[in-house]
Amino acid sequence: MSWVVLEFGLATATHSQTIAGIVEERIREGLRPLLVLQAPDEAAQALEELLASRGLSTARLGALHDDEADDAPIRELDALSAPVVLTRGLGAESASGKTLPGRSGALAARLRAARCEIWTHVPRMFTADPELLPSARLLRLLDYDEAQEIAITGARAFYSRCIPPLRRQDIPLHVRWIERPDLQGTVVSGTGLDAGPQVKSVLTRPGVTLISMDSLGMLHHVGFLAEVFARFARHGVSIGSISTSETNITVSLDMAVSPEILADLLRDLGTLCDARAITQTASLSLVGRGIRAILHEIGPVLEVFEEMKVHLVTQAANDLNLTFVVDEDQGERLVRRLHGLLFQHQIEGRVFGPTWEELHAHPQAEETIPGAGEWWRRRRADLLALTGEESPLYVYDAESLDQAVAAVRGVQAVDRIFYSVKANCCPGVLARFSQAGLGFECVSVPELEHVRKLFSDLPGDRLLFTPNFAPREEYRRAFELGAWVTLDSLHPLREWPELFAGREVFLRLDPGRGRGHHPHVRTAGVQSKFGIAPEELGEAERLAAACGVEVVGLHAHAGSGVPTSGAWAETAAFLGAVAGRFPGVRVLDVGGGLGVPERPGQSPLDLEEMDAELRRFKESHPGLELWMEPGRFLVAQAGVLLARVVQVKRKGDVVYVGLETGMNSLIRPALYGAYHPIVNLTRLDEPATLTAHVVGPICETGDVLGRSRRLAPAAEGDVLLIANAGAYGRVMSSWYNLRAPAGERVLPPP
Ligand code: LLP
Repeated sequence: MSWVVLEFGLATATHSQTIAGIVEERIREGLRPLLVLQAPDEAAQALEELLASRGLSTARLGALHDDEADDAPIRELDALSAPVVLTRGLGAESASGKTLPGRSGALAARLRAARCEIWTHVPRMFTADPELLPSARLLRLLDYDEAQEIAITGARAFYSRCIPPLRRQDIPLHVRWIERPDLQGTVVSGTGLDAGPQVKSVLTRPGVTLISMDSLGMLHHVGFLAEVFARFARHGVSIGSISTSETNITVSLDMAVSPEILADLLRDLGTLCDARAITQTASLSLVGRGIRAILHEIGPVLEVFEEMKVHLVTQAANDLNLTFVVDEDQGERLVRRLHGLLFQHQIEGRVFGPTWEELHAHPQAEETIPGAGEWWRRRRADLLALTGEESPLYVYDAESLDQAVAAVRGVQAVDRIFYSVKANCCPGVLARFSQAGLGFECVSVPELEHVRKLFSDLPGDRLLFTPNFAPREEYRRAFELGAWVTLDSLHPLREWPELFAGREVFLRLDPGRGRGHHPHVRTAGVQSKFGIAPEELGEAERLAAACGVEVVGLHAHAGSGVPTSGAWAETAAFLGAVAGRFPGVRVLDVGGGLGVPERPGQSPLDLEEMDAELRRFKESHPGLELWMEPGRFLVAQAGVLLARVVQVKRKGDVVYVGLETGMNSLIRPALYGAYHPIVNLTRLDEPATLTAHVVGPICETGDVLGRSRRLAPAAEGDVLLIANAGAYGRVMSSWYNLRAPAGERVLPPP
């Protein structure tokens, strides 16, 4: 009977049940389990008792000799009669009673085992370090070389020593996660090869030191390199990668070196060449088989290195690794960007598994977002009844709208709130806000007219007009409606002074720094079309005086979907510093942009903190009112999009759940890569066991509402709920493909 070697690292007694289950399964497979257990004696004892209670006797051995020439330990193992064997592993035990982890590879090789399994406490092999990037995907299939390269390149060189003996015997290695024995984990074997050339992982290592050596002397100097490397050896310094030209050799050190040793080494090298150290760098490696064959594919990815100092580029001779050395503070940022570019559209399949986030989410609670209220769980029956009348359908929960208003009202430093109509202009929603006494911020005359038509007796001073590149006629109409008018360029004052004579206006300024959830929604800096640049303020003063215009307010909006509570006090400080130039200024409008958590794991905006910071500002600027114009915050979580499943299809490893509507109703995922939780509302109580892409019927590949989502298995006719869709949903919808976008309803309190 073949052995299977199961290494459990530091298993504790709490894992006994899981381990016993794994052991039984292996026996059912016809294998003989040899457990390598770095566990305290009590844990081993507990496991033995549990196995005994299930009718499995065990033999317990200490550490096994690691002398390849001596076959005795292997013969001894083979001769044992117990079906299960426990050992502390191969090789000498340290004082603490542990052998080196990962030695089970050598043991499996000596036993000619059917496979070697390493069970870890955290899942290990990912497309990037998941602690840095929770969107990193589990690597399901690797060949030995790739696995070894990732283990060595990544910070966790855990099993690198385990791989060579396994490769020699062609024994597969399974790296698994003890918390989720149902998952297959990573399979490392000789068959990963047929997956073809591909970048599998983006890894970074901080604290890299480079030594750059220049010399004309190395030209035609036989033995020069040997002399150089001899000096590294003399100082006990080990080299990682090397890059050479005719007159320069640059090497990275694969170890931390003390400043004294480094100084000695440089001095010594100085007799041969000009040597200098480049410290505080980080290496960034793309790892995967056949990188040279796919350089053209990763070409666009390399644009991230534009305007960045790259100290060294090495392409490993084994064709598994392309490494860049950059300034240390750039390492993490670059990993995020490179990983995004390489893997954002990667779907779950044979080679790439679920993301770290997905793995750590409870199957039922997977789509839970903190602070989101999830009112729709309570109102499930009402929602399903509504879809019986009409679908697809946006539904807005009146209670949630009221709660959001109350939350913003709680920010006492803010004197007036203007709801940003662009986020959601459903009449029932606006009615709620009108009743609550909010003003309305509008960016176009059609928005102003929409509000005016709904609430004909709304006083003009509850309307705020903040357009961008609006035509001349719109300003005239806005004044006619009695709205506060904001100018975000000087063109109107310069070219149409007669329109503004004797009027009060706000000026929208560019705060210089944009914020927000996506580059498309950051509205500051020269690359953004919004606001008046600070250097134009002199001209603004002159023009205002010349036109007889009084500047009564200053406005700035840095962007949308901002999660940091201090952002608005910063905007206030920026505006406050300019206010002195316009004696008539009595209001600072610090914009909207209040973020709501989008993905599991994100925290809600801390409004109390925001309030405290704004209050501090007001204390130092008495006499100035603060206005705010939130859109998303007031409506996002109150809204859901409900749509029926029309078809389910499988292609290769991928399951597609097709809905009756897609980007024509909700374009945010396609436009910004936005994440909206999705659940199968019809089967809300069933476990989420299906992983699928949720797509619409529109003829574009980008018509995807959610990738690799965990859902309760979906069937035609089921209603799926796309959450957090109250903001910028229906208002950005279209009739693309002549498919009608979802309708809208407000769900009154029960
Ligand atoms: N004030 C001004 C001047 C704005 O431009 C905006 C949004 C707001 C207030 C309201 O921002 P909010 O509080 O909603 O973040 N379609 C994008 C958002 C675009 C925001 C445009 N301006 C999205 O779906 O995320």
